[in-house]
Amino acid sequence: DLGGHDTYMHKEITEQADAVDRVLRGRIDDRFATVHLGGLNLDPREARAVRRVKILGCGTSYHAGLIGAQMIEELARIPADAEPASEFRYRDPVVDPDTLYIAVSQSGETYDALAAVQELKRKGARVLGVINVVGSAIAREADGGVYVHAGPEVCVVSTKCFTNTVVSFGLLALHLGRTRDLSVKDGKRIIEGLRRLPGQIAEILEQEPQIEKLAKEFADARSMLFIGRVRGYPVALEASLKLKEVSYIHAEAYPASELKHGPLALIEPAMPTVAIVPDDDLLEKNRAALEEIKARSGRILAVAHQEQEKADRTIVVPKNEDELDPILMGIPLQLLAYHTALALGRDIDKPRNLAKSVTVE
Ligand code: M6R
Repeated sequence: DLGGHDTYMHKEITEQADAVDRVLRGRIDDRFATVHLGGLNLDPREARAVRRVKILGCGTSYHAGLIGAQMIEELARIPADAEPASEFRYRDPVVDPDTLYIAVSQSGETYDALAAVQELKRKGARVLGVINVVGSAIAREADGGVYVHAGPEVCVVSTKCFTNTVVSFGLLALHLGRTRDLSVKDGKRIIEGLRRLPGQIAEILEQEPQIEKLAKEFADARSMLFIGRVRGYPVALEASLKLKEVSYIHAEAYPASELKHGPLALIEPAMPTVAIVPDDDLLEKNRAALEEIKARSGRILAVAHQEQEKADRTIVVPKNEDELDPILMGIPLQLLAYHTALALGRDIDKPRNLAKSVTVE
Protein backbone atom coordinates (compact mmCIF):
# COMPACT_ATOMS: atom_id res chain seq x y z
CA ASP A 1 0.00 0.00 0.00
CA LEU A 2 1.60 3.23 -1.16
CA GLY A 3 -0.51 5.37 1.18
CA GLY A 4 -0.68 8.28 -1.25
CA HIS A 5 3.00 8.22 -2.24
CA ASP A 6 4.07 7.74 -5.85
CA THR A 7 6.72 5.17 -4.99
CA TYR A 8 7.79 3.00 -2.08
CA MET A 9 11.11 4.82 -2.02
CA HIS A 10 9.33 8.07 -1.24
CA LYS A 11 7.05 6.42 1.29
CA GLU A 12 9.96 4.74 3.04
CA ILE A 13 12.08 7.91 3.17
CA THR A 14 9.20 9.77 4.81
CA GLU A 15 8.65 6.98 7.38
CA GLN A 16 12.05 7.46 8.96
CA ALA A 17 11.14 9.59 11.97
CA ASP A 18 8.61 6.95 13.07
CA ALA A 19 10.98 4.11 12.28
CA VAL A 20 13.73 5.59 14.44
CA ASP A 21 11.25 6.22 17.22
CA ARG A 22 10.37 2.51 17.03
CA VAL A 23 13.95 1.26 17.22
CA LEU A 24 14.53 3.31 20.37
CA ARG A 25 11.28 2.39 22.08
CA GLY A 26 11.59 0.36 25.28
CA ARG A 27 15.35 0.08 25.04
CA ILE A 28 16.64 3.15 26.87
CA ASP A 29 17.56 2.83 30.54
CA ASP A 30 17.93 6.36 31.93
CA ARG A 31 18.85 5.19 35.38
CA PHE A 32 22.07 3.55 34.26
CA ALA A 33 22.56 5.71 31.16
CA THR A 34 22.55 2.67 28.90
CA VAL A 35 20.29 0.65 26.62
CA HIS A 36 18.91 -2.86 26.92
CA LEU A 37 19.12 -5.06 23.88
CA GLY A 38 17.05 -8.12 24.66
CA GLY A 39 18.31 -10.59 22.09
CA LEU A 40 22.00 -9.74 22.22
CA ASN A 41 23.05 -12.84 24.20
CA LEU A 42 26.25 -11.21 25.38
CA ASP A 43 26.62 -10.86 29.14
CA PRO A 44 28.73 -8.04 30.63
CA ARG A 45 31.71 -10.31 31.21
CA GLU A 46 31.62 -11.48 27.59
CA ALA A 47 31.18 -7.90 26.39
CA ARG A 48 34.26 -6.85 28.33
CA ALA A 49 36.29 -9.70 26.88
CA VAL A 50 35.76 -8.56 23.27
CA ARG A 51 39.10 -7.40 21.83
CA ARG A 52 37.96 -6.50 18.32
CA VAL A 53 34.75 -6.08 16.36
CA LYS A 54 34.46 -7.07 12.71
CA ILE A 55 31.31 -6.04 10.86
CA LEU A 56 30.25 -7.77 7.63
CA GLY A 57 27.55 -6.80 5.16
CA CYS A 58 26.89 -5.99 1.52
CA GLY A 59 25.98 -2.74 -0.25
CA THR A 60 24.08 -0.36 1.97
CA SER A 61 24.39 -2.72 4.93
CA TYR A 62 28.18 -2.61 4.55
CA HIS A 63 28.03 1.20 4.61
CA ALA A 64 25.88 1.13 7.74
CA GLY A 65 28.51 -1.20 9.20
CA LEU A 66 31.28 1.31 8.45
CA ILE A 67 29.44 3.92 10.50
CA GLY A 68 28.73 1.30 13.17
CA ALA A 69 32.41 0.43 13.43
CA GLN A 70 33.28 4.07 14.04
CA MET A 71 30.60 4.39 16.69
CA ILE A 72 31.88 1.27 18.46
CA GLU A 73 35.44 2.59 18.39
CA GLU A 74 34.38 6.02 19.63
CA LEU A 75 31.95 4.98 22.35
CA ALA A 76 33.24 1.59 23.45
CA ARG A 77 36.92 2.09 22.52
CA ILE A 78 37.07 -1.36 20.93
CA PRO A 79 39.00 -1.54 17.64
CA ALA A 80 36.35 -2.13 15.00
CA ASP A 81 36.08 -2.24 11.24
CA ALA A 82 33.67 -3.25 8.52
CA GLU A 83 34.27 -5.21 5.35
CA PRO A 84 32.08 -6.39 2.46
CA ALA A 85 30.94 -9.88 3.48
CA SER A 86 31.77 -11.28 0.05
CA GLU A 87 35.37 -10.11 0.21
CA PHE A 88 35.84 -11.37 3.73
CA ARG A 89 34.74 -14.86 2.94
CA TYR A 90 37.00 -15.29 -0.08
CA ARG A 91 40.22 -14.05 1.45
CA ASP A 92 40.67 -16.95 3.84
CA PRO A 93 40.32 -14.70 6.91
CA VAL A 94 41.96 -15.41 10.24
CA VAL A 95 39.09 -16.12 12.60
CA ASP A 96 39.98 -14.84 16.01
CA PRO A 97 38.24 -16.08 19.19
CA ASP A 98 38.46 -12.65 20.86
CA THR A 99 36.74 -10.89 17.96
CA LEU A 100 33.01 -10.26 17.97
CA TYR A 101 31.65 -10.68 14.44
CA ILE A 102 28.53 -8.81 13.41
CA ALA A 103 26.57 -9.56 10.24
CA VAL A 104 24.39 -6.72 8.94
CA SER A 105 21.49 -7.30 6.57
CA GLN A 106 18.11 -5.78 5.87
CA SER A 107 16.64 -8.95 4.40
CA GLY A 108 18.66 -11.39 6.46
CA GLU A 109 18.81 -13.50 3.29
CA THR A 110 21.78 -12.05 1.38
CA TYR A 111 23.78 -15.07 0.30
CA ASP A 112 27.25 -13.60 0.72
CA ALA A 113 26.49 -12.42 4.26
CA LEU A 114 24.84 -15.73 5.17
CA ALA A 115 27.78 -17.74 3.82
CA ALA A 116 30.21 -15.57 5.80
CA VAL A 117 28.20 -16.20 8.97
CA GLN A 118 28.12 -19.96 8.33
CA GLU A 119 31.87 -20.04 7.75
CA LEU A 120 32.48 -18.08 10.95
CA LYS A 121 30.22 -20.35 12.96
CA ARG A 122 31.96 -23.41 11.58
CA LYS A 123 35.19 -21.97 12.95
CA GLY A 124 33.71 -21.38 16.40
CA ALA A 125 33.32 -17.60 16.25
CA ARG A 126 30.59 -15.66 18.03
CA VAL A 127 28.41 -13.92 15.46
CA LEU A 128 25.71 -11.37 16.13
CA GLY A 129 23.21 -10.07 13.60
CA VAL A 130 21.96 -6.55 13.00
CA ILE A 131 18.96 -7.50 10.91
CA ASN A 132 15.61 -6.10 9.83
CA VAL A 133 13.61 -9.17 8.85
CA VAL A 134 12.68 -11.16 11.96
CA GLY A 135 13.35 -14.89 11.71
CA SER A 136 15.32 -14.55 8.45
CA ALA A 137 18.13 -16.97 7.56
CA ILE A 138 20.95 -14.84 9.03
CA ALA A 139 18.92 -14.03 12.14
CA ARG A 140 18.41 -17.77 12.70
CA GLU A 141 22.06 -18.56 12.14
CA ALA A 142 23.45 -15.83 14.45
CA ASP A 143 24.11 -16.31 18.18
CA GLY A 144 22.09 -13.20 19.00
CA GLY A 145 21.75 -9.64 17.84
CA VAL A 146 19.69 -6.53 17.40
CA TYR A 147 16.57 -6.24 15.28
CA VAL A 148 16.46 -2.85 13.58
CA HIS A 149 12.64 -2.55 13.44
CA ALA A 150 12.51 -0.49 10.26
CA GLY A 151 9.31 -2.24 9.18
CA PRO A 152 8.90 -3.78 5.73
CA GLU A 153 11.12 -2.16 3.09
CA VAL A 154 9.77 -2.73 -0.42
CA CYS A 155 11.85 -0.43 -2.63
CA VAL A 156 14.95 -2.17 -3.97
CA VAL A 157 16.92 0.88 -2.86
CA SER A 158 17.37 0.82 0.91
CA THR A 159 16.64 4.03 2.82
CA LYS A 160 14.79 3.70 6.12
CA CYS A 161 16.52 0.43 6.88
CA PHE A 162 19.93 2.07 6.48
CA THR A 163 18.97 4.78 8.97
CA ASN A 164 17.55 2.31 11.49
CA THR A 165 20.57 0.06 11.14
CA VAL A 166 22.89 2.94 11.91
CA VAL A 167 20.75 3.90 14.92
CA SER A 168 20.89 0.26 16.06
CA PHE A 169 24.67 0.44 15.92
CA GLY A 170 24.45 3.60 18.03
CA LEU A 171 22.51 1.57 20.61
CA LEU A 172 24.96 -1.30 20.46
CA ALA A 173 27.96 1.03 20.76
CA LEU A 174 26.39 2.73 23.76
CA HIS A 175 25.60 -0.62 25.35
CA LEU A 176 29.14 -1.92 24.81
CA GLY A 177 30.55 1.42 25.95
CA ARG A 178 28.63 1.36 29.21
CA THR A 179 29.77 -2.18 30.01
CA ARG A 180 33.31 -0.90 29.50
CA ASP A 181 34.62 2.62 30.17
CA LEU A 182 32.06 5.05 28.81
CA SER A 183 31.06 7.43 31.62
CA VAL A 184 27.52 7.98 32.88
CA LYS A 185 27.85 11.56 31.62
CA ASP A 186 28.69 10.47 28.09
CA GLY A 187 26.05 7.76 28.23
CA LYS A 188 23.45 10.41 29.06
CA ARG A 189 24.74 12.70 26.35
CA ILE A 190 24.33 9.95 23.73
CA ILE A 191 20.87 9.01 25.03
CA GLU A 192 19.75 12.62 24.73
CA GLY A 193 21.16 12.69 21.21
CA LEU A 194 19.30 9.51 20.28
CA ARG A 195 16.06 10.98 21.61
CA ARG A 196 16.47 14.09 19.46
CA LEU A 197 16.77 12.05 16.25
CA PRO A 198 13.09 11.57 15.28
CA GLY A 199 12.32 15.29 15.59
CA GLN A 200 15.47 16.21 13.67
CA ILE A 201 14.63 13.72 10.91
CA ALA A 202 11.19 15.32 10.60
CA GLU A 203 12.90 18.73 10.26
CA ILE A 204 15.11 17.43 7.44
CA LEU A 205 12.14 15.91 5.61
CA GLU A 206 10.41 19.30 5.69
CA GLN A 207 13.14 20.58 3.39
CA GLU A 208 11.98 18.31 0.58
CA PRO A 209 10.74 21.14 -1.70
CA GLN A 210 14.18 22.83 -1.63
CA ILE A 211 15.94 19.50 -2.17
CA GLU A 212 13.69 18.80 -5.15
CA LYS A 213 14.85 22.07 -6.72
CA LEU A 214 18.48 21.17 -6.08
CA ALA A 215 17.97 17.77 -7.68
CA LYS A 216 16.73 19.44 -10.85
CA GLU A 217 19.77 21.71 -10.82
CA PHE A 218 22.20 18.79 -10.59
CA ALA A 219 20.29 16.23 -12.71
CA ASP A 220 22.22 17.22 -15.84
CA ALA A 221 25.49 15.90 -14.38
CA ARG A 222 26.91 12.79 -16.03
CA SER A 223 29.03 12.07 -13.02
CA MET A 224 29.26 13.28 -9.43
CA LEU A 225 31.86 13.12 -6.71
CA PHE A 226 30.89 12.56 -3.05
CA ILE A 227 33.39 13.45 -0.36
CA GLY A 228 33.60 13.30 3.42
CA ARG A 229 36.14 12.62 6.13
CA VAL A 230 36.11 10.08 8.96
CA ARG A 231 32.46 10.21 10.12
CA GLY A 232 31.42 11.77 6.83
CA TYR A 233 33.12 9.30 4.50
CA PRO A 234 30.69 6.37 4.89
CA VAL A 235 27.86 8.89 4.47
CA ALA A 236 29.45 9.90 1.16
CA LEU A 237 29.78 6.24 0.13
CA GLU A 238 26.13 5.53 0.88
CA ALA A 239 24.86 8.72 -0.80
CA SER A 240 26.88 7.92 -3.90
CA LEU A 241 25.44 4.38 -4.02
CA LYS A 242 21.90 5.78 -3.66
CA LEU A 243 22.40 8.17 -6.57
CA LYS A 244 23.93 5.48 -8.80
CA GLU A 245 21.26 2.88 -8.08
CA VAL A 246 18.23 5.01 -8.62
CA SER A 247 19.27 7.69 -11.14
CA TYR A 248 22.00 5.79 -13.07
CA ILE A 249 24.25 8.85 -12.80
CA HIS A 250 27.79 7.74 -12.22
CA ALA A 251 28.95 8.70 -8.76
CA GLU A 252 32.10 8.07 -6.82
CA ALA A 253 32.88 8.57 -3.16
CA TYR A 254 36.27 9.57 -1.82
CA PRO A 255 37.65 10.61 1.53
CA ALA A 256 38.09 14.39 1.17
CA SER A 257 41.66 13.93 2.39
CA GLU A 258 42.43 11.88 -0.75
CA LEU A 259 41.46 14.61 -3.22
CA LYS A 260 44.99 15.79 -3.79
CA HIS A 261 46.12 12.23 -4.39
CA GLY A 262 44.14 11.90 -7.60
CA PRO A 263 40.45 12.78 -7.87
CA LEU A 264 41.14 16.52 -7.97
CA ALA A 265 42.10 15.93 -11.61
CA LEU A 266 38.42 15.25 -12.36
CA ILE A 267 37.15 18.57 -11.04
CA GLU A 268 35.55 20.87 -13.62
CA PRO A 269 32.13 22.53 -13.85
CA ALA A 270 30.57 19.41 -15.39
CA MET A 271 31.60 17.27 -12.39
CA PRO A 272 29.73 18.49 -9.31
CA THR A 273 30.82 17.52 -5.80
CA VAL A 274 28.56 16.69 -2.88
CA ALA A 275 30.47 17.36 0.32
CA ILE A 276 29.58 16.12 3.81
CA VAL A 277 30.70 18.87 6.18
CA PRO A 278 29.77 18.18 9.81
CA ASP A 279 30.43 20.79 12.43
CA ASP A 280 33.04 18.73 14.29
CA ASP A 281 36.80 18.88 14.80
CA LEU A 282 37.41 18.35 11.07
CA LEU A 283 35.34 21.34 9.96
CA GLU A 284 38.32 23.47 8.94
CA LYS A 285 39.91 20.58 7.05
CA ASN A 286 36.66 20.01 5.17
CA ARG A 287 36.39 23.70 4.35
CA ALA A 288 39.90 23.61 2.93
CA ALA A 289 38.79 20.80 0.61
CA LEU A 290 35.85 22.91 -0.59
CA GLU A 291 38.28 25.72 -1.35
CA GLU A 292 40.45 23.38 -3.44
CA ILE A 293 37.41 22.35 -5.47
CA LYS A 294 36.16 25.92 -5.89
CA ALA A 295 39.59 27.06 -7.09
CA ARG A 296 39.17 24.55 -9.95
CA SER A 297 35.69 25.80 -10.86
CA GLY A 298 33.92 22.79 -9.39
CA ARG A 299 30.25 23.10 -8.45
CA ILE A 300 29.64 22.17 -4.80
CA LEU A 301 26.59 21.04 -2.89
CA ALA A 302 27.35 20.82 0.83
CA VAL A 303 25.43 18.96 3.51
CA ALA A 304 26.43 20.79 6.65
CA HIS A 305 25.33 22.18 10.00
CA GLN A 306 25.70 25.74 8.76
CA GLU A 307 25.81 27.49 5.36
CA GLN A 308 29.16 26.88 3.64
CA GLU A 309 30.56 29.96 1.98
CA LYS A 310 32.56 28.03 -0.61
CA ALA A 311 29.63 25.85 -1.61
CA ASP A 312 27.21 26.87 -4.36
CA ARG A 313 24.40 25.33 -2.35
CA THR A 314 24.14 24.08 1.22
CA ILE A 315 21.57 21.77 2.73
CA VAL A 316 21.61 22.64 6.43
CA VAL A 317 20.83 19.72 8.73
CA PRO A 318 20.28 19.89 12.51
CA LYS A 319 23.33 19.21 14.69
CA ASN A 320 23.31 16.23 17.04
CA GLU A 321 26.15 14.77 19.11
CA ASP A 322 29.27 14.41 16.93
CA GLU A 323 29.11 10.59 17.08
CA LEU A 324 25.48 10.54 15.90
CA ASP A 325 25.75 13.15 13.13
CA PRO A 326 26.24 10.55 10.37
CA ILE A 327 22.73 9.21 11.04
CA LEU A 328 21.18 12.49 9.88
CA MET A 329 23.53 13.68 7.16
CA GLY A 330 22.60 11.01 4.63
CA ILE A 331 18.85 11.63 4.79
CA PRO A 332 18.70 14.74 2.56
CA LEU A 333 20.83 12.86 0.04
CA GLN A 334 18.26 10.06 -0.12
CA LEU A 335 15.78 12.74 -1.14
CA LEU A 336 18.28 14.16 -3.62
CA ALA A 337 18.72 10.72 -5.23
CA TYR A 338 14.96 10.20 -5.32
CA HIS A 339 14.19 13.58 -6.94
CA THR A 340 17.06 13.23 -9.40
CA ALA A 341 15.68 9.85 -10.49
CA LEU A 342 12.18 11.31 -10.70
CA ALA A 343 13.39 14.21 -12.86
CA LEU A 344 15.12 11.70 -15.15
CA GLY A 345 12.03 9.46 -15.36
CA ARG A 346 13.68 6.39 -13.83
CA ASP A 347 11.95 3.25 -12.54
CA ILE A 348 12.52 4.25 -8.92
CA ASP A 349 11.31 1.22 -6.98
CA LYS A 350 12.86 -1.30 -9.34
CA PRO A 351 16.12 0.01 -10.78
CA ARG A 352 17.38 -1.96 -13.77
CA ASN A 353 19.53 -5.03 -13.11
CA LEU A 354 18.96 -5.02 -9.32
CA ALA A 355 16.99 -7.24 -6.93
CA LYS A 356 15.78 -6.46 -3.43
CA SER A 357 17.46 -9.42 -1.92
CA VAL A 358 20.48 -11.06 -3.49
CA THR A 359 20.17 -14.72 -2.57
CA VAL A 360 22.74 -15.93 -5.07
CA GLU A 361 26.45 -15.23 -5.24
O1 M6R B 1 19.29 -7.26 2.55
P1 M6R B 1 20.69 -6.76 2.69
O2 M6R B 1 20.83 -5.60 3.59
O3 M6R B 1 21.65 -7.86 3.08
O4 M6R B 1 21.12 -6.31 1.24
C1 M6R B 1 22.42 -5.89 0.96
C2 M6R B 1 22.52 -5.17 -0.35
O5 M6R B 1 22.18 -6.03 -1.42
C3 M6R B 1 21.63 -3.93 -0.39
O6 M6R B 1 21.90 -3.06 0.66
C4 M6R B 1 21.78 -3.17 -1.71
O7 M6R B 1 23.04 -2.58 -1.79
C5 M6R B 1 20.65 -2.17 -1.88
N1 M6R B 1 20.17 -2.16 -3.22
C6 M6R B 1 21.04 -0.79 -1.43
O8 M6R B 1 20.14 0.21 -1.74
